[in-house]
This record gives sequence, C-alpha cells and structure tokens, in this order.
Amino acid sequence: MDKFYHIVTYGCQMNVHESEKIAGILSELGYKSCDDIKRADIVVFNTCCIRENAENHAYGNIGMLKSLKAAKKDMLIAVGGCLTQQMGKAGALHEKFPYVDIIFGTHNLNKLKEYILKKQGSKKAVIEIEESDGEICEDEKPLRTSYPNAWINITYGCNNFCSYCIVPYVRGRERSRKSSDILNEAAALVQEGYRELTLLGQNVNSYSNGTDDVSFPELLRRVSAIEGKFRLRFMTSHPKDFSEDLAKAVADCGKICRLIHLPVQSGSDAVLKAMNRKYTAADYLKKIEILKKYVPDCAVSTDIIVGFPGESDEDFNKTLELVKEVGFSSAFTFVYSKREGTAAAKMPDQIPAEVSKERIMRLVELVNSQTRMQSLKYVGKTVEILCEDFDAKKGLYLGRDEFGRMAYFESGENLIGKFVNVKIAAANGISLTGEVVKE
Ligand code: SAH
Ligand code: SF4
Ligand code: F3S
Repeated sequence: MDKFYHIVTYGCQMNVHESEKIAGILSELGYKSCDDIKRADIVVFNTCCIRENAENHAYGNIGMLKSLKAAKKDMLIAVGGCLTQQMGKAGALHEKFPYVDIIFGTHNLNKLKEYILKKQGSKKAVIEIEESDGEICEDEKPLRTSYPNAWINITYGCNNFCSYCIVPYVRGRERSRKSSDILNEAAALVQEGYRELTLLGQNVNSYSNGTDDVSFPELLRRVSAIEGKFRLRFMTSHPKDFSEDLAKAVADCGKICRLIHLPVQSGSDAVLKAMNRKYTAADYLKKIEILKKYVPDCAVSTDIIVGFPGESDEDFNKTLELVKEVGFSSAFTFVYSKREGTAAAKMPDQIPAEVSKERIMRLVELVNSQTRMQSLKYVGKTVEILCEDFDAKKGLYLGRDEFGRMAYFESGENLIGKFVNVKIAAANGISLTGEVVKE
C-alpha cells in the first residue's frame, strides 16, 4: 500500500528549499507526495516566525488537524522550522497541540528520518531541538519542486542581529558552504536541465567569511562559468556588504539576472541606526549608484518595514523620499511585528497599529504606482522569458524576464523550462501579458 506525505511550508525561500530536503527524506522512507492533506499518512509543517501573522497561520493550521488526527489515528504530524526553534516554543507547542507526534528544529532537520522511526515505535511524542548550529550537512538529497529553478544554499544562519529580527536566534551563526561543494551542486543541476539557479543565504554578500578563499563575487563568476544556458540569481544582499566587486561581477556575467534584491528597511538614519542596519540612507543610495555605474539598467527590489519603534512621521516621510529616489521595481512592505527576544521588542515607543496601517497603505500606493509606470514601458517590447509555470485558473503560462518582471502568455504546448520570446501587449500593475513570438 502506498504511503503519502503532505508538507505545508511557511516563510522564505530558505524554508521552501528545506521543505524539498524534507521531501527527500520522506521519499527515502517510501512516502509519496500528495496534494490532499486528508489522504496523507504524514503531514509536516515547516514553520516561520518572522512576524506574528506567520506564527498565527501555523497555529491555525496545526489546530485544524485535530479532528483529522482523531479520525485517522496512525497519521503522523510533524512540526519543524523556525517557530519550533524559538526559545521555549517546542514545549509550548506540545502543550497546545498534544496530538503532534514530532517536533524538530532548524538545526536537526537532517535527523527527521530517525525521529519518524523513533515515533513509529513509541506512543510518546518525539521532541528534539538542538541549540547548536553545528556542521553543515552535505549529504542531503532534496526532492526539488521548483523546476526550472533550483535553490542552492551558500550560507546558513546570520550574524547581523538587526534589532527587529528573529532569524539570528532561530537559524544560528553564519556558516558558509565550501565553494567546491556549491560549484559541484550547481554544475550537476545545470546538467539535469535546471534553467535558473538561485544562491540562497540570509546575507549572501558576506560569503565565505574565512571558510573558503573564494569571495561572493568570485563565487558568482565561477558559477556563471558553468557551461550551458541558465540564469543565476542570489538572495539576500545586505547593503552594508554590497561591494563594487559584486557590481562588476554582475556586469561581467551575462547569466546573472539584472534584478538585485537589496533590502533598505527604512529611509531614516535614526531608524536605520535603531535597527542596527549599519548604513545610512546616503550609504544605501551610494551602493545603488555603484551598481548602476556598472549595470545601468539593473532593476532593484527591496524590503521595507514601517512602524518600527520610535518611527516618527518625519522618519516615515524619509522612507517615502528614498523610495521615490531609487524607483524600485518592486518592494515587499511589512508592518513591524514585535518578536520576543529581539532588541527592538524592549524599545520604548512602539507604534500603534492604526498609525502603521495608515503608513503602509501610503507606502504600498507609492510602490505600486512606480511599478505600474515601469510595467507600462514594456508594452510593445519583446522580452526573453524563462517559462516557469502554468496558471490553471488563468489558463496561461508564466515566467520572468532577466529583470524579474512576470509575464503571462498563451501556448498550445508545454513551455515550462524553455526560454521564449514574448511580445508584451499589456501591462496590468506588476505583471505583463503578451504573445509568444516564433523565431
Ligand atoms: N536576511 C534577509 C531576509 C530577512 S527576513 C535580509 O536581511 O534581507 C525578510 C524581511 O522580513 C526583512 O528584510 C524585513 O524587511 C522583514 N522582517 C524581518 N523581521 C521583521 C519584523 N520583526 N517585523 C516586520 N518585518 C520583519
Ligand atoms: Fe534578519 Fe538582519 Fe539577518 Fe536579514 S540580515 S536575517 S534582517 S538579522
Ligand atoms: Fe525564513 Fe521565516 Fe525562518 S522568513 S529564515 S522561515 S523565520
């Protein structure tokens, strides 16, 4: 009889890729993937705790499984990821959801097989959280689900301790993989037919931090030199470590996408200082200038937090000014969420929710108007799109150009994984629609 698994993933690309590693472990145990949670013999929640709503989402969905578990006693439920790694959370989760069978953290995901086997022979829940970040595990066999894109970890953890952020507490200190391991993985993926490689780390610019004699720009050059047609992306870049060498590498390597994600967080120096970001708004603008000197048409996307403790109207206006000045191609905007254990959680002058809400609405409006203007410039142009997926609701294929702009188009044949030229007919906000141009 076939056994099935279902994985629910929250959070960032790091988690998406880790769910692929979880899928690899489950398939080794003989489980097959299934979309229907009710059919699953094991359900794994890979959680996130970056903001309160991510946490609540997970609690809600784990809670909803109670009745299913009561009706299907041998179904296993496992919870892992950043939420469980938070101090004291594993115990609290066990109390709140006693029917959860396995609770594991971010540092021991590679032991999930062992935990499942242990649970199968025992009535007691298996709760295993490791505090130390330890060695990098190199024998993982992820079951990739993002074709034609493949995620490749280059660093784990973070040393930056931005004052609002929980990541350094739940992901441990920054560790870099050896460049030879990264290059071998990348070359094998291109061989297998992956058409986009995304190098992942909380702060890719600080690769390799003494682990290897290869710097991040040099790593990009070496990955780019792998034979074959593919695109190379990386995330996330911290502005303080964004160097001229990196801009030169982007300029020199045609495979690197012309979209750099460079989170600014705020346009106010006072807020940036309180956030422990280690740069000023002027420093940030200087980095953009360096990037544009080498890659004039490069698109830049960003992350912005509004309502950080102590943020005044004047501070917020500085963020709006910076957004106007840079002209981001897109921006992820967040209302500050207090995370227990971080430095900002203890700061006075937490901003009332209504104020943050009003600010984020103004910010989103500005960002959207800039994105719309940029999209309009595409109309009539033909761009090369890497087809990524099929949107069943729209009945259209979709993909992105090298600037990260999404385009939808019709096709009678399956184009996923192919580079196609698309003539853009219309711009609707952030995305575009067009027609495939045959050679
Ligand atoms: N290492 C990456 C990603 C961190 S998490 C980086 O430094 O950019 C992604 C984004 O979530 C951050 O850039 C930040 O904008 C946002 N974020 C992090 N902690 C937050 C918090 N407590 N409240 C609101 N947004 C937060
Ligand atoms: Fe969090 Fe800052 Fe590290 Fe990014 S760089 S993960 S925002 S502490
Ligand atoms: Fe990512 Fe959320 Fe963890 S954003 S690193 S999954 S806290």
